[in-house]
Amino acid sequence: MSKKLFIKTWGCQMNVYDSARMADVLAPLGYRPVDEPDGADMVILNTCHIREKASEKVFSELGRLRQLKDVKAAAGDGRMIVAVAGCVAQAEGEEIVARAPYVDMVFGPQTYHTLPEMVAKASRKVGSVLNTDFPVESKFDFLPDESAGQGVSAFLAVQEGCDKFCTFCVVPYTRGAEFSRSGTQILAEAKRLVAGGTREINLLGQNVNAWHGEGPDGTTWGLGRLVRELADIDGLERIRYTTSHPRDMEDDLIRAHAEVPQLMPYLHLPVQAGSDRVLAAMNRKHTADDYRRIVDRLRAAKPDLALSGDFIVGFPGESDADFAETLRLVTDVGYAQAYSFKYSPRPGTPAALEHAQVPEDVKDARLAALQQLLNAQQQAFNQSFVGRTVPVLFDRAGKRAGQLLGKSPYLQSVHAEANERLLGRIVEVRIAAAHPNSLAGRVATGEYRSSVTGTQPVEASV
Ligand code: 5AD
Ligand code: SF4
Repeated sequence: MSKKLFIKTWGCQMNVYDSARMADVLAPLGYRPVDEPDGADMVILNTCHIREKASEKVFSELGRLRQLKDVKAAAGDGRMIVAVAGCVAQAEGEEIVARAPYVDMVFGPQTYHTLPEMVAKASRKVGSVLNTDFPVESKFDFLPDESAGQGVSAFLAVQEGCDKFCTFCVVPYTRGAEFSRSGTQILAEAKRLVAGGTREINLLGQNVNAWHGEGPDGTTWGLGRLVRELADIDGLERIRYTTSHPRDMEDDLIRAHAEVPQLMPYLHLPVQAGSDRVLAAMNRKHTADDYRRIVDRLRAAKPDLALSGDFIVGFPGESDADFAETLRLVTDVGYAQAYSFKYSPRPGTPAALEHAQVPEDVKDARLAALQQLLNAQQQAFNQSFVGRTVPVLFDRAGKRAGQLLGKSPYLQSVHAEANERLLGRIVEVRIAAAHPNSLAGRVATGEYRSSVTGTQPVEASV
């Protein structure tokens, strides 16, 4: 009999991917995804620990779920299994079990392949099943193949965890040590995705360009090689990867940007700050000029490369002069898009113990100044597309009827009036208007691109 599974996901794309894999693991047990937690047989909160007050959000959500669980039980409709997964579970598992005893399962990101066992245990016993181990086996060797295609644009986790230990970050503690899947396993999954209709693959990893794995030829590949091998898969038209660390931006990967047309001209390359003093305190293992030089090399390889980044303002000890260096770096580099955050101490990380915490109002002012600069760059970048024609991969229906939504090579969202036959295709779109977070355009009739390497006119009906 079919059981209802509701998963709520916070945080990064890795979590979105993990939620889909949890659904895959649970499918053979009869669980089918639903859109609402009411009446569900299992609710999983897949949590993120990066942001401030992350665990408070989880506890308030749990409070709501407790009521739904009681309603279901009172109606004689069986038990709702309530589970907390992800990075908050990993970091604060014991506290969750203590504060919310009605939670049935608490488990970290490396244990998802053991879900059937945990469900069996939780069904037998009253009280919480806690599993925050880092098992010796890799979950990737035990997770089932994807049960459902992911659609036109798919995520593929190639790497997980991180050994960099930036002093502000919880990832090395919640996701564990850097782990790469084998090239052989990744190629097989990519081929399955493409056979299921995927045209774009986003390679995922917390430190994705640290990826290294064995290929079918028995040699160890780096990410550049993996990208080249993926580009040989017939029908795979676009490849992206995220998130990268400047230290792992190897020559071969940079060359791949020049040589592999399927590798999209967009790169998320966080720098976090522009002052060398702050970068050292963050344990970033690179200077601001190292970063500038990497960007120069990337742009020499791919002149139209659009850059994205992450920034933290108000790191402990950051002075006005340090912050001015961040603004200078942003001005020098020029970003198409970026994320910026106020530093917030994460328990268990070295920076949280620093005495020189920056006052909140100073952080607010710096964030506002940085965002003003980044927003102006993003706006100018988007505006520069008006009147140009760009190849758009339509990957979903738009909000309005008759509209499709897709992505430019530079990861801008583009919407246009278009026949749904064009879903899953790369189509030339003439950009008519630029908004802060998207572009609007018209399909340039007769300019359907069959592949990234050539233009082949068809009678495209728009
Ligand atoms: N405070 C603020 N921002 C943080 N990030 C990670 N940890 C913290 C923290 N403690 C940001 C970094 C990272 C992004 C995913 O989140 O910029 O690149
Ligand atoms: Fe966290 Fe990224 Fe630094 Fe790793 S490289 S510790 S994931 S910020």
